Amino acid sequence: MGRTVKLFHEAKQSGTPLALVTAYDATMAALAMAAGVDALLVGDSLGMVIQGDDTTLSVSLDDMEYHSRLVVHGAPDIFVVADMPFMSYQVSPAQALVSAGRLMKESRVQGVKLEGGRVIIPQVETLVKAGIPVMGHLGLLPQKIHVYGGYAKQAKSATEQEELLADAQALQTAGSFSLVLENVPHELAKEVTAALSIPTIGIGAGPHCDGQIQVLHDLFGLQPDFQPRHTRRYGNLGQAIIKGLTQYVQDVRAGKFLSQ
Ligand code: KIV
Repeated sequence: MGRTVKLFHEAKQSGTPLALVTAYDATMAALAMAAGVDALLVGDSLGMVIQGDDTTLSVSLDDMEYHSRLVVHGAPDIFVVADMPFMSYQVSPAQALVSAGRLMKESRVQGVKLEGGRVIIPQVETLVKAGIPVMGHLGLLPQKIHVYGGYAKQAKSATEQEELLADAQALQTAGSFSLVLENVPHELAKEVTAALSIPTIGIGAGPHCDGQIQVLHDLFGLQPDFQPRHTRRYGNLGQAIIKGLTQYVQDVRAGKFLSQ
């Protein structure tokens, strides 16, 4: 049995920052569990880092269900949250309930994440009433990429910052157990973190959040030519794999692979 949302409440109370990372398959999930990460997110970023798309928009509920199931298999002792993909919850609270219910039942994740603020409160309330733990997501919302036209920092003006704070409070009141803040000014993240009793989990939101989340592939350079500004590299696996595979190709072609 995995861990529960208590983990998030306790972290907020103790002030010990939470370390989260994304995962999309059993192997990486098991490695993350061995490293002691607090929770895993099966992000719809899988559209970009696994499926090779430019955005997260094409990710389907089937995709999320499949990858979430793999992650739960690989890391059975960690709290796993699955992203609700684009258009799996926006239509209505009933649609959100059916989609989230499917993710919980079929892949056995322990929570779901939805992008958006006050506009999706009916969805959040419906899920919470059904006993489904909900993680919120504000700031840069990748499912709105065609509104922004890029992945730049959000909530820079005073009005946008007031709106984001109101969204954060509404998500907390609706029963969300935590809130991802993506690519927002650090001072705003600090203010939101101080205003909420649920933990904030930052990505590109500075050091004042209650936890951090990163896309696993960014931390380890698995896409060697892509490094978001908010990421620190803990390894260069992309280059290591290219180097190793180059050697393998040479060895096979030279007839040396099985002779050493
Ligand atoms: O899809 C994802 O990986 C995410 C994180 C960036 C928070 O939503």
